[in-house]
Amino acid sequence: MKGIILAGGTGSRLYPLTKVTNKHLLPVYDKPMIFYPLQTLLDAGINEIMIVSGKGHVGHFLELLGSGSIGVYGLLMRYRIRPGVLPRLWGWLMMRVAVVLGDNIFQDDGSEAVQAFEVGGHIFLKKVEDDCRFGVAQIEGGGVVSIEEKPEEPKSDLAVTGLYLYDNGVFEIIRRLKPSGRGELEITDVNNEYIRLGEMSYSLLEGYWSDAWTFESLLRAGVMVERNMQDV
Ligand code: G1P
Repeated sequence: MKGIILAGGTGSRLYPLTKVTNKHLLPVYDKPMIFYPLQTLLDAGINEIMIVSGKGHVGHFLELLGSGSIGVYGLLMRYRIRPGVLPRLWGWLMMRVAVVLGDNIFQDDGSEAVQAFEVGGHIFLKKVEDDCRFGVAQIEGGGVVSIEEKPEEPKSDLAVTGLYLYDNGVFEIIRRLKPSGRGELEITDVNNEYIRLGEMSYSLLEGYWSDAWTFESLLRAGVMVERNMQDV
């Protein structure tokens, strides 16, 4: 399985921290944010990883992480600039892929699910209190029946975290997607299509998890990492 870290966006929600740098390079306790999703993929046994970002910051990722087999982790790092990225990704992937949002900090690595994964899509859910900020999954009869993006009245307290496993059918699904109200292609639309096809499975995360795109959650993510280091 190969990995993709999505590290684009303007970072407007963290302005002015993001005025001169990319959100995913901001510190979370003692490391740049992107080190965490990178570590999640590595811990799950994935070591061919592509970072997708905007052209304004790709050089910073390159400086931080290196490229080819000389990257910091001995990784095969690849870089793609977002516009027109999809057709060029195709040839590289052509198989199963783990996608992680660059601003998600996980304690679990999902390795069991990664090893067991064969077809369709797989999402990782976490019980949260502030579910209106996330995609929220509705579970019935042991399966996911819908995901609502940032619902006003959530149907559960299970947030869809930013780690996803897909088979190569995902590219056809993305090709057919239309931008949402906020002008972006939504990962939730991809996931709902897998649900519609009856091909979506899920796991529940036990360890801590946080996103880091608000000032509060950025701080919380750092505190979680720091506390966990004290505990081990
Ligand atoms: C994205 C997804 C959302 C998910 C969240 C996890 O939200 O759209 O479903 O729960 O990441 O961090 P965004 O950060 O784009 O608002």
